[in-house]
Amino acid sequence: MENENIMHRKKFLQQAVTIGAGTMIAPQILKAKNLLHVDKKIRVGVIGCGSVSNMYFPHLSKNPYAELVCTCDIIPERAQKAATKYNIPKWYPNITAMLAGSSFDIMVNLTNMQEHEHLNREAIEAGRNVWSEKPMANSYKAGADLLALSKTKKVRIWGAPAVVHSAQFAFMAQTVKDGKMGKVAAAHAHYGHLGPTWSAFFYEKGGGSLPDLGVYNIASLTGILGPAKSVMAMTSIITQTRHTDNKPEVKVEAEDNASLLMDHGNGTISHVMCGFNYFDPYGHEGTGQEKPTISIVGTKGSMHLIGYDWKPFGVDLATPEDEKGSRYVTDPGDYVWEMGASVIIEGMATGKEPRINVEHALHVLEIIEAARSSQVTGKRIELQSTFKWPMV
Ligand SMILES: NC(=O)c1ccc[n+]([C@@H]2O[C@H](COP(=O)([O-])OP(=O)(O)OC[C@H]3O[C@@H](n4cnc5c(N)ncnc54)[C@H](O)[C@@H]3O)[C@@H](O)[C@H]2O)c1
Repeated sequence: MENENIMHRKKFLQQAVTIGAGTMIAPQILKAKNLLHVDKKIRVGVIGCGSVSNMYFPHLSKNPYAELVCTCDIIPERAQKAATKYNIPKWYPNITAMLAGSSFDIMVNLTNMQEHEHLNREAIEAGRNVWSEKPMANSYKAGADLLALSKTKKVRIWGAPAVVHSAQFAFMAQTVKDGKMGKVAAAHAHYGHLGPTWSAFFYEKGGGSLPDLGVYNIASLTGILGPAKSVMAMTSIITQTRHTDNKPEVKVEAEDNASLLMDHGNGTISHVMCGFNYFDPYGHEGTGQEKPTISIVGTKGSMHLIGYDWKPFGVDLATPEDEKGSRYVTDPGDYVWEMGASVIIEGMATGKEPRINVEHALHVLEIIEAARSSQVTGKRIELQSTFKWPMV
C-alpha cells in the first residue's frame, strides 16, 4: 500500500516537479507516512476577494493540506478584510505585489471572468501553480497556450468547476460506463436564474451565461457521455441593460440566454440550456431544489440527477428490471461545489491525481466558444480538443 502511495506521488510529481518559487517538495512528501502530518503544507495565495471567496475561504481554512499565506484584490480593502477575517498574514492590492511579496505554491484565482487569463499567465510565468475559477482563459487557444506555458515552467494549472467530484456524477458516469443504460440516445441539462446582481462583468464582453452557468452542465454531460465531436447552438440577449451594485447601467454584451446541442459520437446527442433570465423559485443559492436538472435516456435506462449538478441530492434511475425507478446516492458525502481548489491542494500534497483535469476544462472552453461561433455563422462547429474518458 505504501509503495502504491509512493508511486501515486511520484507520478503526480513528475508532472508537477517544482512547487512554488523553485522549492522542491518531493522529498518531504515522499517521506510523509501519515498524510495529515505532511511537514510542508501547500502555501496558497488567493486573488479576488469578492462574492465567491466567501465560499472558498471557509473551505480552504479547514483544509489540513493548505496554508493560506496571502490575499489580493484590486479593491484593497477586500483583500485586507479577508486577511483579517481568516487570519492570513499578508494582503496585496495587485498581482505584481503579491507575486513579488509572498512565496506560495498555488494561486487560487477568484477574480472577474475577463481577468483570469492574464492573471493566470502572470502567476505561471512566476513559477506558481494555478487553480482558476471558470473560465481559465478568454478563448480556447489562449487556454491551450497557458497549459503549454505551464509545462515549460514545470507547474500546473487546473480550472473550475468541480462537479465531476460529486458522488452523483460518479454514479451516473459509472452507470453509463457499465452499459446499464443500453445505447445512450439523448440527454438534457439546464441551469439558470435571474443573474448576479453584484458585478457588471457577468454581462460584459468575456462574461455571459455560458461560461458562468452552462459550464457546469457542459462539464457534467461531457464527463458522463464523453468528449463532444461537434456543437450547434443558438444564443441571444433577452435583457439589454442591467443594474448591478458596481455599475448603475450595464449594457449587456455577452449572451444571457443559450441553447446548445452536442454530438458525443455513436449517435448520442445532448442538449444544454442556460441563462440569466430564468425565474427560479430556488434562487441563486439553489436552496431546496429537488427537481431533475440533468436527464439521460438510453435503450435500457432513464436516469435523472436530482438538484443541480453543482449541488446534487440524488439520482433517479429506472430500468426494465425496475420500471418505477429508484433513488440512489442521496448522501452528498464531503462534496460541495466550492471544494475545487481544496481538492487540487490535497492532490499536490498527497500525489493523488484529482478527477478534475485541465484537458477537460479546455474542452468545455472550446465548446463554449464553438456555441458562440455557431450562433454567429449558423453552422455546426467541429471540435479539436478531447480529454481522457471515461472519467471513472
Ligand atoms: N459568486 C458566485 O456564487 C460564484 C460561484 C461559482 C463561481 N463563481 C466565479 O467566481 C469568479 C468571481 O465571481 P464573484 O461572483 O466572486 O465576483 P465578484 O465581483 O464578487 O468578485 C471578484 C473580485 O475580483 C476582484 N478583481 C477583479 N480583477 C482583479 C485583478 N486584476 N486583480 C485582483 N483582484 C481583482 C474584484 O475587485 C472583486 O473583488 C467568476 O469567475 C465567477 O464565474 C462565482
